[in-house]
Amino acid sequence: MSDSFRVEVDHSVCAGHGRCYDLAPSVFEPDDDGFATVTGTSFGTDVLPELTAARRNCPEQAITVTPLEG
Ligand code: F3S
Repeated sequence: MSDSFRVEVDHSVCAGHGRCYDLAPSVFEPDDDGFATVTGTSFGTDVLPELTAARRNCPEQAITVTPLEG
């Protein structure tokens, strides 16, 4: 398994449900309108449990997690 991951929010489908930043506040935060933004460019395995919960609980399936090589 990769040691780090890139996280993206598809802003064309994010509807501001907010489950991502409730479940994974170290990875997501709301913008001024309540839509999700990602807090960094890559994340380690330490956030994987909360990140996985956030991805699974987004009703719009707006969250993509991609393993980074190396
Ligand atoms: Fe948007 Fe899904 Fe989070 S709709 S605010 S990415 S829970």
